[in-house]
Amino acid sequence: MGKKRWIAQCFMLSAFVVGNMSCVFAADARIEERVDSVLRLMTLTEKIGQMNQLSNKEDLTGQQLEYFDTETLIRAGQVGSMLNVAGVEKVRRYQEMAVNDTRLHIPLVFGLDVVHGFRTISPIPLAESCSWNMDLIEHSARVAAVEAAAAGLQWTFAPMVDIARDPRWGRVMEGAGEDPFLGAAIAAARVKGFQGDDLSAENTIAACAKHFVGYGAVEGGRDYNTVDISTQRLRELYLPPFEAAARAGVATFMNAFNELMGIPATGSTFLVRDILKGEWNYDGMVVSDWGSVAEMIVHGVACDKSEAARLAVTAGCDMDMEGYCYVSALEDLVRKGVVPESLIDDAVRRVLRLKFRLGLFDDPYRYCDTEREKRETLSADKRDAVRSVARESIVLLENREGILPLNKRYKSIGLIGPLADNPDDMLGSWCAWGDGRDVVDIRQGIEQAVGKSVAIRYAKGCEVEGDDRSGFSEAIQLARECDVVVMCLGENRFMSGEGASRTRLTLPGVQRELLQKVKETGTPVVLLLTNGRPLVLDWEKENIGTIVECWQLGVEAGNAIADVLFGKYNPSGKLVMSFPHNEGQIPVYYNCKSTGRPYIPNERYVTHYQDCPNEPLYSFGYGLSYTRFEYGDVALDKDILAEGDTLHVSVPVTNVGDYDGEEVVQLYIRDLCSRITRPEKELRGFKKIALKRGETQVVEFEVSFSDLEYVLADGSRVWDPGTFELFVGGNPDVVKKASFELK
Ligand code: GLC
Repeated sequence: MGKKRWIAQCFMLSAFVVGNMSCVFAADARIEERVDSVLRLMTLTEKIGQMNQLSNKEDLTGQQLEYFDTETLIRAGQVGSMLNVAGVEKVRRYQEMAVNDTRLHIPLVFGLDVVHGFRTISPIPLAESCSWNMDLIEHSARVAAVEAAAAGLQWTFAPMVDIARDPRWGRVMEGAGEDPFLGAAIAAARVKGFQGDDLSAENTIAACAKHFVGYGAVEGGRDYNTVDISTQRLRELYLPPFEAAARAGVATFMNAFNELMGIPATGSTFLVRDILKGEWNYDGMVVSDWGSVAEMIVHGVACDKSEAARLAVTAGCDMDMEGYCYVSALEDLVRKGVVPESLIDDAVRRVLRLKFRLGLFDDPYRYCDTEREKRETLSADKRDAVRSVARESIVLLENREGILPLNKRYKSIGLIGPLADNPDDMLGSWCAWGDGRDVVDIRQGIEQAVGKSVAIRYAKGCEVEGDDRSGFSEAIQLARECDVVVMCLGENRFMSGEGASRTRLTLPGVQRELLQKVKETGTPVVLLLTNGRPLVLDWEKENIGTIVECWQLGVEAGNAIADVLFGKYNPSGKLVMSFPHNEGQIPVYYNCKSTGRPYIPNERYVTHYQDCPNEPLYSFGYGLSYTRFEYGDVALDKDILAEGDTLHVSVPVTNVGDYDGEEVVQLYIRDLCSRITRPEKELRGFKKIALKRGETQVVEFEVSFSDLEYVLADGSRVWDPGTFELFVGGNPDVVKKASFELK
């Protein structure tokens, strides 16, 4: 349909809007009038059609519960949104069906999991979070949004903001780790990156805070398992990143699959109507997770689709993703008076509001420009941006012998391991339209970095998994012949992500054995890890002096890793999730509580294991640099605070090493006596600073009074008079301390 005809249609549709065409482009303030003007035209059937989301059948991201002919349903006005459709041509084809063939010409909204990049894949979110660089994280989401929007998309099912303390759960790779304060900052940064300042612009997309809520607390780290947490823990740990996303203006939320206190999140009035749409006054749209409406039957709280539909719409779920419950049962429920039509109207208003905010009623083909699609896909500026993010995502875990950075005095570097030239596994498991052929893998990155000056020799040694040791002898021989060995070990991309929980977190297959054999040759070893979760590295930490956590870094993995290996970039990453000594220690996290019997060495009746320390192997907030930073004493501008006061904190930090570098200065507090138990350390501030060799910077923090409050199970925020401790350092275990009083 030509643009002219569309404008005419839009004008006809908007004829009910007060004023003329110029108001069609009126500011947001008039969107409600436009929404209501459309709602008034809709039949009940058409309203319910807007609450139905279907997937492209060729790219399912879940089990297909039923088969419907998508095009027939679209033309009948029974589909409000499609997911897993991308590319201008495909999007336009479906959009034309909705706009041309339905009675009211209401455009579809197209969503996809653009979790860390659309085609120019950036590091997995767990890696990006280790940069602690909010501007960079926002920019990474911006890059993804521009490319996704150019491909016809208007909506991403990201950021995933689930707090996670259990690395057995494969979906930790999608999130920002274990801390609610950092998780909240990252949630806001990613929302702003995806959505920009104008959701109707053709290069921004609606974001989606998911999975609401508590999904990261699945028992045993087993995906989709039961979740049962106290309301207190829900409030203080799992909700803050979602509230931050809501405050940042996230356009949509997604229900979690899990139950919470016996009620599936998709049917939880407490979570969606009381907290999200009530307490937080949220006016965006809530979409179910894939089939999570229908899954309430399997959870055992609904006897059939009709009951599941009733529970979900009553609880405030506005759109049914691939559940076929709304579109098959809601009309009957309304006609029988079981579900008030006002609930349908509320949901449809939110769906229409999203489409108006995206500018789809002004021009449903705004995101369908093939020239822009060609120009924006995999552009050089996007690759450069992703390379910067990737470098800052890398965490240096060990450099005991000072092997790194590898200066080029070596004549030969042995590259060994199944992840050395493995482009697909650099992409991670949620890689949208990412393609391994776009990836610079580790071998390519290192070869490009050293050119002809150093011989790079390669032996795979073994696979990521399995017990085939036939490649060992070649790898061992290669190690004997080279000046230094770079071992590329870890997980393949589908060992983490959705449906990828694991109970053993040591290096899969026979990789550790290969590492042990290579170490026995006596050639210096650099261990590079490519993985989507914290691993169990107890033997590695004990026996390998140089370990670099590279995560899954996307299309620029090899270049970013080479930049760090050869000192073009001094690693600055800090872990956002603790690494356990072993699986038996899980969950282990930095912000733990004292308990009534805190650990005392050589005491029996204190909280401890007989065979493992209480602390993690590597803690949240930990990461090394090629240089060293020294902290001076912490100065406070007051040692007594009255309600509403702000505490000014300053600490001198000096780069006392041999390289320019960046440091993440972290500020933690401890409330020594409060009406409920509190963690021994809580992150309440961080700043990433750059220091040249020998440079000192006085780092300033402002701790607001609200940072010293805490939330109770009823959602109220409170504070208690008494003593606080304050800690500042480059990780929570090496800190300078101060204390102050609240009066
Ligand atoms: C999946 C995931 C969710 C994703 C959705 C659409 O099952 O749980 O994170 O956004 O389905 O792909």
